[in-house]
Amino acid sequence: MEVFVRRLPKVELHLHIEGALEPELMFEMAERNGIPLPYETVEDARKAYQFEDLQSFLDIYYQGANVLVTERDFFDLTWAYLLRCKADNVIHTEIFFDPQTHTVRGIDFDTVINGIYHALRQGEKELGITSKLILCFLRHLSEEEAFETLSQAEPHLNRIVGVGLDSSEIGHPPAKFQRVFAKAMSMGLKTVAHAGEEGPANNIWDALSLLNVSRVDHGVQCTQDPILVAELAKTRMPLTVCPLSNVKLRVFDTMEDHNILTLLDKGLCVTVNSDDPAFFGGYMTDNFLALTHALSPSKHQLVQLTKNAIEASFISDEEARQLNAQLDDFWQNHGDGH
Ligand code: HPA
Ligand code: ZN
Repeated sequence: MEVFVRRLPKVELHLHIEGALEPELMFEMAERNGIPLPYETVEDARKAYQFEDLQSFLDIYYQGANVLVTERDFFDLTWAYLLRCKADNVIHTEIFFDPQTHTVRGIDFDTVINGIYHALRQGEKELGITSKLILCFLRHLSEEEAFETLSQAEPHLNRIVGVGLDSSEIGHPPAKFQRVFAKAMSMGLKTVAHAGEEGPANNIWDALSLLNVSRVDHGVQCTQDPILVAELAKTRMPLTVCPLSNVKLRVFDTMEDHNILTLLDKGLCVTVNSDDPAFFGGYMTDNFLALTHALSPSKHQLVQLTKNAIEASFISDEEARQLNAQLDDFWQNHGDGH
């Protein structure tokens, strides 16, 4: 089963690029940019990555992002992530970036997006990994600041597929961003939002009705509301679920308690994703392995998780056909008959 999981073609739809900053690279960038770190060593940093909840993680995550200064830093960060994708057989990835984490420190929006975008293009050329970029608004900041960020994105609209909403869910419900999401949609952007990670099922309803999302990020709290679960199944509304993240941030006590396979069996379009892999203990294969060890999915269920991610992705029908063909090919060679 382990070989099957490692070789399974994967599609990632929920990855914060700042959350892929490994401590080794963080130290390298801190050194070259002259930015102080609150850790003596890489091991100290890893030891500090113990979280009680989302906020205790976010404090450390924003702190780490302070070392990102130049276009080269954003390029190197993204390139390192893409090399991990290659190792994990990730064939397509749709990644988030948090421009406000950088613009508040005086880093230009253009520096951030240019570095990330050039690495993504090189990843497509040299590694054969296709990708999309999603701009996330930080929900603990104001509506006005989100509008300001959207206007900074305007010259780069051809590089961005959509907008998302991340950071502290509790106290910052979807309604706060209804107008800026409507503006983004009028500019041709798709919308997604973190909802029902720590917050209530009602945030998922509001993300659907007020923000018109095409996917819900996390969404695992939907089980609080059976009517919502039925609606998500009926509409095949995708949930980008992040198993290791949920255990690290104590959304579930243990991986054995995770509801992803229950939701899959109810017909929901659930997908597996790594969220912030440098902080939560692993990339795509690690997430698939952790849920495989804890929940014993069938090979058919594992393949369905990638099928769902292809269905939920923002690629064209033709690109989806190509990814599904790769998956079918894998199933012919490694499926139940083998
Ligand atoms: N939730 C909310 N905000 C985030 C996350 C998350 O899992 N990761 C990075 N920013
Ligand atoms: Zn996330």
